[in-house]
Parts: sequence; C-alpha cells; structure tokens
Amino acid sequence: MHILHNYSLKSLNTFGLDSLAKQFIILNNVSQLETIATILHNNNLNYFVLGGGSNVILPPLYNGYVIHNCLYGIEMLNQDDNFYYVNVRAGENWDNFVAITLNNKWYGLENLSLIPGTVGATPIQNIGAYGVEVKDFIASVEVFDLQDNCIKHISNSECQFSYRHSIFKTTNRFIVISVVFKLLIQAKLVTSYGDLATKLATITNFTASDLRQAVISIRQQKLPDPKIIGNVGSFFHNPILENFQVMQLKQLYPNLPVYPLDNNRSKVSAGWLIDNLGLKGFKLGNVGVYAKQALVLVNYAAATQNEIINFATMIQDKVYQQYQIQLNIEPIIMR
Ligand code: EPU
Repeated sequence: MHILHNYSLKSLNTFGLDSLAKQFIILNNVSQLETIATILHNNNLNYFVLGGGSNVILPPLYNGYVIHNCLYGIEMLNQDDNFYYVNVRAGENWDNFVAITLNNKWYGLENLSLIPGTVGATPIQNIGAYGVEVKDFIASVEVFDLQDNCIKHISNSECQFSYRHSIFKTTNRFIVISVVFKLLIQAKLVTSYGDLATKLATITNFTASDLRQAVISIRQQKLPDPKIIGNVGSFFHNPILENFQVMQLKQLYPNLPVYPLDNNRSKVSAGWLIDNLGLKGFKLGNVGVYAKQALVLVNYAAATQNEIINFATMIQDKVYQQYQIQLNIEPIIMR
C-alpha cells in the first residue's frame, strides 16, 4: 500500500481550498483496511476519510492521514415484493448512481439528483432534497470498524438517521465500505416541494426521469457549479424550532418558509433568514454569500479555512442579533 506525503487536496474538495495532507492513502481495495487500521492504531494518528470532498472545509495542512475512498462497484443483490436491494461501493459518484437507478427502473432517489459527492458520504449526513431523504432508501451500511478491527453491517435503525445527521457524525470509528439501497419497484413520485411542484406543473404525465430532469434544472438555476465557483452546497442547517417559536416568528415575518417536522417542531428556511437581512451577494475578501441562494457560501478566489469560518461566524452573529436563532454549520470542519 502506497502512502503519499504532503499531498495536495485542492482538486479533491469542492470549495477549492489549498490544503495539504501530511499522509495520503488511496483506498481501492477492502483488503487494505486491516493494514490501515494497524497504521492508525500503532501511531495514534489523526485521520479522516475523504470521498467527493463536497462537504468538508479543509485546513491548509492536515497533520494526519487522509484516506481517499476509491472503492467502486454496483451490484444488484436481490428483490422482494416491493424493493430491489442494490449494493453500492462507497467511492461511486452519487449522481452517476442516481442516473443508473433510473436507467434500470429502480425508483426513489430521483429527487436527490445532482447532489455532489460520493455514495459513501450519503448516509453520513443523510442527504436530502425536494422532500426526500436518503435514509428512506437505505437498508444497511457496510463499514470497517477501526475499533474492533472488522467489517460490520449497520442496519437502517442503528444508523440513527435524522435531519442531516446519523451515527456516523458522532464517531470516527467507521469507514464506509458500501451502502445497500432498497429501491422501489413501483415509482412513487414525491412532488410536493414548492419549486419542484411548480416546475412539474408544466409537464403532463411526468415520469421519474422527468422529475430527475426538473430537479437538475432547479439545482442548476439556484446552486453554483463547484467546477466554476468553489462551494459546499448549503453552508448552514435549516434550524429546527419549537412550533410556539415559529408562530412568534411568523407574526414578525409572515413570508418565512416553514416545513413541519413533527407535532411539536418545524424547520425554518435559513436561506430566507439570511436573504431577509439583505446579505445575498454580500462579499468580503475571497468569501461571499451566493447571489442566487443565500444558504450557500462561495470561494471567489483563494479563500482559506479561517477566512471561511470568520465569514460564517459573521453571518451567524447577524442572524442571531436579528432573530435570536443560532445557525449551525453543515459541512465538517477539519482541523
Ligand atoms: N429562500 C429565500 N432566499 C434564499 C434562499 C431560499 O427566500 O436566498 C427561500 C426559498 O424561496 C424557499 C425556501 O427559502 O421558499 C427554501 O429554499 P430552497 O428550496 O432553495 O431550499 P433550502 O431550504 O435553502 C434545502 C437543503 C438543500 C436542498 C433544498 C431543496 C438544507 C440545509 N438544505 O435548502 O440541500 O437542495 O432544501 O430540498 O437542508 C445541501 O444540503 O447542500 C443542499 C443544497
């Protein structure tokens, strides 16, 4: 197994940050995992697993091991009355996989089209878009447990999924090897999300593939292409508030978009809160709020991790001063 030193991660993170990994390993075979575990244990080293780099804010120098997950393969396992079970290795590109599901008439993931990153990252933050979360289509996740030195299968309920959260965010002991998806044999299209409903209203008898195209078109209009301008998608979570707080806010801000979560709580739109402060397009040095979607921060040139964090803190402070709501940062900040 090859260990590379002082390896540049610039082209491997969608924010386009200049970052060096002290040590860098390409994981392209499951048989490497035991050796990797031994290296990390023996030296008690920092490490993290890098997939598509679309949800991380990297430091100029990462003083530890970066394990680049390049495990590939898609395999249909079996089917029952309602679902196809498909095993997908962690390094596969997410959107390529979504396209493959539709070509095969495996349904459910169409609303999650064009989300950047790899399959292995999707359970970690339970990706979601346009009324669908990936948790509803995950049967289990195969991991290497660096603590117990063996492969394990984590069931959907053991993953403890919630909004942009899972067990994988609370511990560093697991390296995702593959995800088993359970995909619908009969399409059940989710079309309730505002933007999507408007777009689909213009098409008669739309299919899952039409829905995918509609999602792609909305995302292309609203979200910056990381190949052109560095970003990690939404920079903050949509805050979850008690319904009585939401009602108070709605009196002051009747246009605030609200998404009910359960009987007591709702999500409110962080993008709207930032936009309402007039910050769309606001720029300071190399970092800015994207002009078409206030929840996205962008790297205009050679931003550093510190610059981005300082800018994000300023946004959090302004939002807190105005609404007394604390915004949480969505991407993982590597130190
Ligand atoms: N809005 C504004 N101004 C803005 C941004 C949004 O008024 O600058 C309003 C919109 O008009 C809309 C509402 O806020 O009424 C929601 O906006 P949008 O549909 O763009 O979604 P979002 O809440 O900002 C979330 C996810 C996105 C996902 C979209 C669509 C989070 C943190 N983000 O964004 O996920 O694509 O919904 O479902 O939950 C990501 O996680 O990186 C991501 C892009």
